[in-house]
Amino acid sequence: MVLDERGTVVASGTEEHVPFASPQPGWAEQDPRDWWRAAGLAVQKALHAGDISPREISCVGFSGQMHGAVLLDVNGEVIRPALIWCDQRTERQTKELEDIFGRERLIELTCNPPLTNFTLTKLQWVREKEPQNWERVRKVMLPKDYVRLRLTGESAIDVADASGTLLLDVAKRAWSREVLEKTSIDLALLPALFESEQVCGKISAEGARATGLAAGTPVIAGAGDQAAGAVGIGITQPGTVSATIGTSGVVFAATDRPALDPKGRLHTFCHAIPNRWHVMGVTQAAGLSLRWFRDQFGGGRFHDDDAYARMCEEAAAVPAGSEGAFWAPYLMGERTPHLDPNARAAFVGLTASHTRAHLIRAVLEGVAYSLKETFAILEEIGVPAARIRLGGGGARSRLWRQIQADVYGHEVETVAAEEGAAYGAAILAGVGAGCWGSVDEACAAVVRVADRVSVNEAASSELQRGWRVYQRIYPALRSIDAAN
Ligand code: XUL
Repeated sequence: MVLDERGTVVASGTEEHVPFASPQPGWAEQDPRDWWRAAGLAVQKALHAGDISPREISCVGFSGQMHGAVLLDVNGEVIRPALIWCDQRTERQTKELEDIFGRERLIELTCNPPLTNFTLTKLQWVREKEPQNWERVRKVMLPKDYVRLRLTGESAIDVADASGTLLLDVAKRAWSREVLEKTSIDLALLPALFESEQVCGKISAEGARATGLAAGTPVIAGAGDQAAGAVGIGITQPGTVSATIGTSGVVFAATDRPALDPKGRLHTFCHAIPNRWHVMGVTQAAGLSLRWFRDQFGGGRFHDDDAYARMCEEAAAVPAGSEGAFWAPYLMGERTPHLDPNARAAFVGLTASHTRAHLIRAVLEGVAYSLKETFAILEEIGVPAARIRLGGGGARSRLWRQIQADVYGHEVETVAAEEGAAYGAAILAGVGAGCWGSVDEACAAVVRVADRVSVNEAASSELQRGWRVYQRIYPALRSIDAAN
């Protein structure tokens, strides 16, 4: 995505990745080289679409999926497919970390409890299960940082994305010596740390060849998809909260201190802004629930570009509450609030009068219920949510916007340029290039509220009733333990 100094999108390009592989239930792997291939093509397409000369680009930003483990050998070659953010194979490794540190001490050190998603547990898994691969590891990277390595030759990471590794002292914004020492991870394996807006390298000749960008163009550190996405919709000041539905679903609150959930249900990470943090709760399968439903039960009806719009159109005919049908979205285990890699998804409450449209609506409502769990925890720990902005695919559907307002019981806003994490990454690049003095200044200049959706009282009271039922589904499913 190419922005001008007013924050207008001048051009953009996209290229699909190969979908992630799941060689065993709960596993999720991707080949990092495919990200580099796709990124190169997407940049070329954007430059071409905007007829942009590479010398006009003043700075490049990065964003990408978080928490992955890209393992590289001495020549920078990929050793094995990356274990990505939603991989759930490392439950045993999380227990090991609890044994080494104790849960409370680990939260003190990193602001977060051990979770299967976090990179450190993936490193432990490879070390234990694939010692022949581990012996060859000379660098560990997160997904976007691998793309940066190929583009610049530099091994660098921002504190926001590094927060999701469980190796960062989030309060101090530095690698945690104690965690590294006690888990025997060599500091030399990790990239150099930067704040998101800091320049940390230049495009190399190889990078220029693959993308069409000019060698020597500066790059900034950037941020993981959640922090960059939050910047892109102006979630920078305490009191502002976003609910973003992409593959995963995230409720994200900006804070001016590392606010902790003592039960560890929320993540406490550095924001992509110096001296600011954020807390977030994550639904593992948010947009993924809808995509899964489309792919498995769409019967080929929903396979064109506006598939999701047509699914929502179908669901809009069903009344709020889906006439008693519920979706518990635990297709990939769950993070907030259950922290349970073994959680399993379910449709609940079906009768012969339910149709596909009911099930689609139940999926949309179930995802919103799941995100509401985070709003409840924010209230519990005293993090204010005065303004709620929507992002991702969930903001693009009129029906899903209304469902969210009604489930959260709070007005929601959308912004004019809802372009996801790439937009935030480009704003950060603009700050790095000196177009704006700070991220706050940039967001004040470019982020505009486009629409406000107020609560529909009748639908909302139906959905509040539904929310109370929804909260009883997980404990009931847990008692079945279908996974074992
Ligand atoms: C956040 C998270 C997701 C992934 C993929 O903790 O896991 O945002 O980065 O979108």
